[in-house]
Parts: sequence; C-alpha cells; structure tokens
Amino acid sequence: MKSYNIAVIPGDGVGVEVTKATLDVLQAAASKFSFELAPTHYEWGCEYYLIHGQMMPDDGLAQLGKSDAIFLGAVGWPECVPDSVSLHGLLLPIRKQFDQFVNIRPHRLLKGTAGPLKKTDFDILCIRENTEGEYSGAGGRVHVGSPHEVAVETSVFTRQGVERILRFGFEQAQKRSGKLASVTKSNAQKFSMVFWDEVTDELAAEYPDVKVERYHVDAAAARMVTHPESFDVIVASNLFGDILSDIGAAIQGGLGFAASANINPTRNMPSMFEPVHGSAPDIAGQGKANPVAAIWSGAMMLEHLGEQQAANAIMQALDKALCDTQCCTPDMGGSATTAELAEAIVKLL
Ligand code: NAI
Ligand code: MG
Repeated sequence: MKSYNIAVIPGDGVGVEVTKATLDVLQAAASKFSFELAPTHYEWGCEYYLIHGQMMPDDGLAQLGKSDAIFLGAVGWPECVPDSVSLHGLLLPIRKQFDQFVNIRPHRLLKGTAGPLKKTDFDILCIRENTEGEYSGAGGRVHVGSPHEVAVETSVFTRQGVERILRFGFEQAQKRSGKLASVTKSNAQKFSMVFWDEVTDELAAEYPDVKVERYHVDAAAARMVTHPESFDVIVASNLFGDILSDIGAAIQGGLGFAASANINPTRNMPSMFEPVHGSAPDIAGQGKANPVAAIWSGAMMLEHLGEQQAANAIMQALDKALCDTQCCTPDMGGSATTAELAEAIVKLL
C-alpha cells in the first residue's frame, strides 16, 4: 500500500480545530482509496514561542524536509506574539526553504453555498508568485525618525522567477480551458512589469494552444467582481496575486472557503497546504470555525500526492454536505460545529 509522510502543523487558534477536522476527512479518504497517510504532528506556533522564544526548533525545517507534504492550520496569536514574529518565524521560512514558488488558490462556489455576488458560474484558479517580486524583502530605512527619513522597498523580478511562475500558469491553462490571464501593471511599472510581459510573450510561443489575455491589476480586480466568469487561470506577481486572491476568497463566500497550496513543482522538496484564513482568535475554541477551507486544502494535498480520485471524492462530499443546512457552520448561517461538518463529510465518503 502506498504511504505518505505528512508533516502536520496545527498552529494556533482555529488552526488546531480545522486541522483535526481535515485529518479525519483525509484518513477516511485514505482508507476508502487504499493508501496510507502517516501524519507527524509538530506543536509549533505561538504557545511554543512563549515557552522557547522561537516559533519552531532550530532544526525545524530539517524535520519538515523529510515529509512528502506539509499541512498547516493557521499561525498567529497577536495578543501574545507580534504577527511579524509569528509569520517570519514559521510560515515564511517554510515557503522559502522549500522554494514553494507557486501559490495556488481555487475560487469557485461549492454546491449549496452562495457568495455575495449574484453569480454562481465562475471557476478561477489564481496562481500567485510566492518568493520574490514586491515581497522580496529588499530595502531599508535611513535617518529613521528624522524629517529626511527615507524608506525604500525594492521589487525583485528575476528571469528565473518570472519564467517559472508563468510556465506553471501556461501548464495549468493547458489542463483547463486554455485561457490564461496575465495580470500586471505594465503601464505604470515600466521595468518589472514590462519585463513580465516580455517573458509572457516568449513563453506564449511555446504554448500556442493557450490564449493569453493581459490585464492591469486594477481592471482585473474590478472584473473579478463584475465578470468573474470571464476568468479561468490567472497568473500574477506576489503582491497582485495576494490582493486578487483575497477578492477571490470574498466572492466564493469568505475565508471559511479559501483553500491554498504552496507548491514546489520540482517535487524535490515538500509542498505545503493550508487554508488561507488565520487563527481567528474571536471564535477559537468554540467549535464555530468553518473547516471547508482546510479540508479543500487537504484535498489539494492528496491531488498533489497523486491521489486524484480521493481528492475528487472529498470535493464531491463537500458539495453534498453543504447542500444540507444542518451541516453548515455559523458563518454559513447554520449551527453545526466544526466537528459535525467534518463528521458529515466522513460519512458521505
Ligand atoms: P483571521 O483569518 O484569523 O480572521 C478574520 C475573520 O474571519 C475573523 O472574524 C474570523 O472569525 C473569521 N474566520 C477566519 N477563519 C474562519 C473560519 N475557518 N470559519 C469561520 N470564520 C473564520 O484573520 P485575523 O483575525 O486578521 O488574524 C488572526 C491571526 O491569524 C493573526 O495572528 C494573523 O497574523 C494570523 N493569520 C495567519 C494566517 C496563516 O497562518 N496563514 C493568515 C492570516 C492571518
Ligand atoms: Mg492575502
């Protein structure tokens, strides 16, 4: 029987609750489709920080590196640990160390759910560059606090970085409708984004079956609200992808539905799967968290591991469960708990 080593980091707040729900569902899928998931739990996060003064042990990344994939709940507890510390101490080092340069976020409505738009027919795959661009971290401040203070934050776009994310976008477009929306701001940003457009043109020649449409990010943002059905695969830089994928989350019903994968397509190192939402301190510990985003991320993990049938079965079970209002959590207007929704999905599997 095939077996996969999964590194599981439940993290903080509702991260713990949605991770438990997800593992229950994934294990049910594993036994139905005859493979084994061997999870190793890492209790890293803000509680760990308060005891040890760091978010994970010194050899944390080396430990994770042995896994086939990483599942993460959510990290952060702003009352006790500044977000800049919790983010830079765990999540970002993982993305960086394992060169997870693709961030994928699917945006569509599950059956039985409604978003804020009166539209149901969109199915968008947002692909965000995850390692460089506007979030390269290059920059600095001088003359801090003085009237002539200067802050500089430099975007970094490398040919390797731009080419590999675009290539991933082209390949996804080939697998779907053959349409790729490349989002830039090349009218205003005349170096980096013009460069992005040029690399897009170069690659387009290699993928003649893919139709490339170019959008400026402001127009794309508006279009995701007015005509979301006109998009299929969207590829964008780190900042633009970050913003567009939050619009995507909003139109698909909110953070409880926003799934994501941080992928290293070379498969030399583990990829990480996580719901987009945070630790939700306002509802943590009450069983109110919607586990759908986490379970969907778990299904993406199974797909990445090659267990496509199991992933499909989970998505079908999600669709079915959410048509029953008894299974819906408070954010969907229901009163089911996190565990009850997970249980319903397990039963459907
Ligand atoms: P958040 O995503 O935790 O919560 C925002 C709002 O959405 C809250 O009202 C919350 O109750 C609701 N919400 C979130 N997930 C939900 C779910 N599954 N079901 C139902 N409602 C849900 O964002 P917030 O409050 O800004 O951040 C809280 C902490 O989480 C911070 O420490 C932040 O840094 C961290 N964070 C971590 C992320 C990660 O681990 N990837 C992502 C975003 C925030
Ligand atoms: Mg964001």
